[in-house]
Amino acid sequence: MRSYKAKMVETISLPSREKREAILDEAGYNAFNIPAEHVYIDLLTDSGTGTMSDEQWAALFRGDESYAGSTSFAKLREAVEDVMGFPHVVPTHQGRGAENVLYGCLVDEGDIVLNNAHFDTTRAHVANQGADPVDCPIEGAKDPSVDGPFKGDFSVERAREIVADVGADAIPVVVLTITNNSTAGQPVSVENTREVADFAAEIDATFVVDACRFAENAYFVQQREAEFDGSSIADIVREQLSYADAVTMSGKKEALVNIGGFAAMHDAELFEAAKQRAILYEGFPTYGGMAGRDIEAMAVGLREAVEPPYVEERVQQVQELGEMLEAEGVPVYKPVGGHAVYLDAGQLFSQLPREQFPGQVLVCELYREGGVRAVELGSFAFPGANRLELVRLAVPRRTYSREHLEHVAETAGAVADRSEYVTGLEITGEPPVPELRHFSATLRPVTE
Ligand code: F0G
Repeated sequence: MRSYKAKMVETISLPSREKREAILDEAGYNAFNIPAEHVYIDLLTDSGTGTMSDEQWAALFRGDESYAGSTSFAKLREAVEDVMGFPHVVPTHQGRGAENVLYGCLVDEGDIVLNNAHFDTTRAHVANQGADPVDCPIEGAKDPSVDGPFKGDFSVERAREIVADVGADAIPVVVLTITNNSTAGQPVSVENTREVADFAAEIDATFVVDACRFAENAYFVQQREAEFDGSSIADIVREQLSYADAVTMSGKKEALVNIGGFAAMHDAELFEAAKQRAILYEGFPTYGGMAGRDIEAMAVGLREAVEPPYVEERVQQVQELGEMLEAEGVPVYKPVGGHAVYLDAGQLFSQLPREQFPGQVLVCELYREGGVRAVELGSFAFPGANRLELVRLAVPRRTYSREHLEHVAETAGAVADRSEYVTGLEITGEPPVPELRHFSATLRPVTE
C-alpha cells in the first residue's frame, strides 16, 4: 500500500532498441553521458531525484530570499534541532559543501580520518586537507553473501590498531556514515554508534555522523535492534544522533529535496569557525548557497522523513526490488540496503576479467535491454582498488511505482539470461584525475 498519490506527472518513454544501441555508442558506453530524456527508468542515484510533497511545493512559495536573517533559515534551524537534536546549523549547497566546511575546520595536513567507509566526496574532502582517509569496515562487510543485520558498522577494533600504529594525536575526526553508502547501503546499529562515540571520546577526536540517510538507518534499527523494537523512527533518530558532536547532511537524500545540505553541531566554537568558512565557500550563514525557497522546502522535508509511514514504504520498496531481482536469477548483494540494490556483476559475468569492467558492462546491458540507468561501483569507478564489481540500482524517493521496478527486474533478468554472450569493455579516453574517471571516461566493446 502507498500512502501517497501522484499530483503531477512527467512523461517518460522507452526509446527503440535500435535507438538505445546508437545512444550507448554515442555516449561512449558511459551512462553519465546519456541524455536523461533517453532514459526510461533512472536509477543512477537517489540524490536529489526524489519527489517533493505538496507541502514542500507550498513551502517553496513561502521562501524568504533575504540575504541575511532569512525566516526560511530560522525554520530550517528549528527543524534540525527538533528532528536531529543539534542547536547550530550551517546551511550549504549540498552535502559535499558541508564536508568542505566542517573538515576544513577540523582536519589538517598529515592527519588521519577514520570512517566506517568514506563516501567518495568525503574521501576527497579529507584528502583535499592533506589528510589520509582510512576505512574501518567490519569483517564480512565486503562479502555480498554474508548475511548480517548491521554490515555497515564501524570496526572499533580496526580503529584501535590504527591508533596503536599512528597515535591518537594524528586522528582529529572519527566519522560514521549512516547508512553506509560505500558498503551497499548497509545500516549501522545504535549500539555501534555508542561504541564509536566512546572510542572518539577516548582519543579526543570529534565524532561526526554523515547523516545523509539517517531515517532509513533508523528504520533498520527499529526492525533489527532488539532494544528499539516498537520505538518510533523519530525517537531512534534522536537517540542515534545524540552521540555525535556534529553531522554533515545532504538534503538531496533524506531531507527529500532536489538540492541543499548543511552541517550541524553542538559546540559553539566549532559553529563560529564553520560559519566563517561557509561565508568563503557557500554564502552568508543564513542561506549558504541555497535559495530561501529551497531552504524552506528542506525544513519541511526533514520533518517528513521521520513521519510514518514514509520511511517504511521507502525501504520496503527497495527490499521488494531486491526480491524481484533475485527471483529473476540476478546476483544481489545481501542483505539489500536502504536506498539501493547492489548487483554483483563479477558473479554474473564471471568470464570477464576485471580489466574489461564487468560492472560497466552490466550498466550498459541494462540500458541496452530496457533503458534502465544504473551506476558502476567497481574497477571502473575505483581504479586500482580491489573491490567487488558492484552495480548500484538506487531508487529515487516517492517516485517510481511497482510496475516500473518490475520492468527493472525483468530487464536485469533478460541480461542475466544471456550473461555468457556479453562482451567486455576497454577505455578509449579518460580524464586526468583517475578518481573521477567514471564520470566522463569513454569506452568501447573489446574486439578480439
Ligand atoms: N555522503 C554520502 C554518504 C553520500 O551518499 C553523498 C552523496 C554525500 C555525502 C555527498 O552529498 O551529493 O549532496 O554533495 N551521494 C550521492 C550518491 C551523490 O549518488 O550516492 P552531495
